[in-house]
Amino acid sequence: MVANIHSCGIVGIQGQPVLCQCDLSGGLPQFDVVGLPDASVKESRDRVRAAVKNCGFEFPQRRITVNLAPGELKKEGPIYDLPILVGVLCASKQLPLPPEDACFIGELSLEGRLRPATGVLPMALAARDAGIKTLYVPEDNAAEASVCEELTVIPVRDVPQLAAHLTGEVPIPAQPCYTFATQWQEGLDFADVMGQEMVKRALEIAAAGSHHVLMIGPPGSGKSMLAKRLPSILPDMTLEESLETSKVYSVAGLLESGTPMLQSRPFRSPHHTVSPVGLAGGGSTRPRPGEISLAHNGVLFLDELPEFRRDAVEVLRQPLEDGVVTVSRISGTFTYPSQFMLVCAMNPCKCGYFGHPSGRCNCTDQSIRNYRKRISGPMLDRIDLHVPVSSVAYDQLRERKPAESSEAIRARVNAARERQRARYAGTGVHCNAQLTPGMMREHCPLTPEAQQLMAGAFDRLGLSARAHDRILKVARTIADLAGEERISHMHVAEAIQYRSLDRDTLL
Ligand SMILES: Nc1ncnc2c1ncn2[C@@H]1O[C@H](COP(=O)(O)OP(=O)(O)O)[C@@H](O)[C@H]1O
Ligand SMILES: [Mg+2]
Ligand SMILES: [Zn+2]
Repeated sequence: MVANIHSCGIVGIQGQPVLCQCDLSGGLPQFDVVGLPDASVKESRDRVRAAVKNCGFEFPQRRITVNLAPGELKKEGPIYDLPILVGVLCASKQLPLPPEDACFIGELSLEGRLRPATGVLPMALAARDAGIKTLYVPEDNAAEASVCEELTVIPVRDVPQLAAHLTGEVPIPAQPCYTFATQWQEGLDFADVMGQEMVKRALEIAAAGSHHVLMIGPPGSGKSMLAKRLPSILPDMTLEESLETSKVYSVAGLLESGTPMLQSRPFRSPHHTVSPVGLAGGGSTRPRPGEISLAHNGVLFLDELPEFRRDAVEVLRQPLEDGVVTVSRISGTFTYPSQFMLVCAMNPCKCGYFGHPSGRCNCTDQSIRNYRKRISGPMLDRIDLHVPVSSVAYDQLRERKPAESSEAIRARVNAARERQRARYAGTGVHCNAQLTPGMMREHCPLTPEAQQLMAGAFDRLGLSARAHDRILKVARTIADLAGEERISHMHVAEAIQYRSLDRDTLL
């Protein structure tokens, strides 16, 4: 007899329904798994055989064939252990066949315990979309799966417990549904940063529209200090955004078992030794999302940008443009989302003190140019806000007059983001940084004066078309912070001012 058991796999960060067909027939005892299984799926046979025996069942001395369908999908990882085991026990009539709309996911230990799996959230979403009603998952992943309120999620500890549930002897209580809530993380506050009003304003604009920022200033001017406080002013995450990012974390195995979804925007700050694969994702054995995908809908902070490997920084170019990263593997290519806000910090020159009032810098023009060339033109072009950071005056530091709190700034950021959400509702675009050229024509109306200013700046600064679009998006955000629908020349003027490096004036 053939037992058909539903399961699910992962391609990139998407779940993919898989049907596990288990056939018992006469002939010499044999156990085959077919349907493009990789090595870890083939090893399922040994784990399933051991788990069946160690949990007091009988391993059928027949010819067992397991087919994982669809055949063209490459099956990876050990998560098919559980459906295979259930298939074997059902086909040999040791367990009743579960209903058509049940789905099983999980890796087994030799004793028959379920081990935590990666990617359960996207698999649960895919199962739901395929019409599954009951999902059996490892206990540790139950909270993650319970995000889908349409599913009944059964947390499974081990095989005997599951068997008692399926026979109706001792039902396992279903996992309560998870309700999403955003949370503001207490922590570092902008109130600690004296002065630096210009930089804070730029960071507020960046947070409001999710624009990319580069801070340039001497050591000790507070660049790292400012960047580390960004999470405190980022807008609240929506359910949709959190789901997108949580799927990435699920696949990377980074979701905590208690909190199945991200409650606030990610802030990733990789070390400058990070490899291109570490940033972009991929890997030869098990594919893994990189830092740029873990920062999806949040911030990627590269402190001391010129210290980063050039090949690593260059992999950012395509994702910065497309909002997705394409990873190639032997089994094919797939994409991870990567719509992040890039925040970089760097010194103005090799010694760090170019433009410092102390006059300490004695770098030559050539050495300064060489230093800045480490950041390629195309990268600079993609950064919306170029922000000079100068050292704060001693008086300002000494005064210790508490500056505006992060909470006050965040209230303005949230209001500006709310305007964007209302304007772009139903388009899949969350904020101004994600506007497509077509949407920009519709949603970035300029006053006649603003238009004139834009045209003038375009000629005078010799801007690229890309820089032009970026200025327009930033101006859109500045208008949103001001609560205005039309973009005025004041908004455009402020946006242009943040393109200091296009003007190629040394700071
Ligand atoms: N505007 C400021 N207000 C208060 N403290 C500051 C300010 N700027 C710098 N500092 C102090 O100087 C330290 C060094 O700043 P940091 O952010 O590491 O500078 P950078 O990254 O630019 O080299 C901070 O940890 C902080 O104690
Ligand atoms: Mg620093
Ligand atoms: Zn110098």
